[in-house]
Amino acid sequence: MRAFCYLLLISLFISLSNASIVEETCKNISCSHPNIAYDFCINSFESYNDSLLVPDQRTLAVIATHLANTTAVKTVVRIQELMQEEKNQPRRNRLDTCMEEYSNAINELTTAAQALNVCRDSDAQTFLSAALDAASNCEDAFAEAEDPSPLEEEDGEYGELAAIALAIVAALRR
Ligand SMILES: *[C@@H]1O[C@H](CO)[C@@H](O)[C@H](O)[C@H]1NC(C)=O
Ligand SMILES: *[C@@H]1O[C@H](CO)[C@@H](O)[C@H](O)[C@H]1NC(C)=O
Ligand SMILES: *[C@@H]1O[C@H](CO)[C@@H](O)[C@H](O)[C@H]1NC(C)=O
Repeated sequence: MRAFCYLLLISLFISLSNASIVEETCKNISCSHPNIAYDFCINSFESYNDSLLVPDQRTLAVIATHLANTTAVKTVVRIQELMQEEKNQPRRNRLDTCMEEYSNAINELTTAAQALNVCRDSDAQTFLSAALDAASNCEDAFAEAEDPSPLEEEDGEYGELAAIALAIVAALRR
């Protein structure tokens, strides 16, 4: 019984200290990036694995990269839907720009995740920075034409997730 209690305590301690990697990381990121809310950060990781049990920062960086990728894939599907209804050619061109940005981002995020898995953190950072730009480049395509973006929500969510992944990788390199 006593041994069982010790085991319980130890596993509780381990789960608390693991959970705090996510919490501490989200706290650090929300302090240094005022546009990334702490709750958004925590909820994003929880959506991936509600245990919040993450063994280390590198795994957390890979998870954040996967989360950004999932949103990029969702955004591509949304762009395809919008394309089916859109008749206006200049608007179709802007959607095309976004499609290209997010298709490239999916490749860049995938390369970044592979780089992280073999500890090529500087390469991962380069690919994540390039991938992050998809959101602002897509928004700019609409802003420059003074056309309200139909992808504002997707760009916002993707931008935050990509920024979280990038911030974790930047911290890994320090
Ligand atoms: C959070 O920031 C503090 C202070 O810069 C640093 O010591 C700590 O290692 C960081 N923790 C994580 C999980 O990034
Ligand atoms: C969630 O995390 C736990 C603990 O690390 C792990 O055993 C489980 O496989 C993870 N689930 C998913 C869906 O990744
Ligand atoms: C991103 O999504 C694509 C398409 O589903 C997939 O092939 C790729 O492995 C994913 N990459 C990451 C880092 O999750």
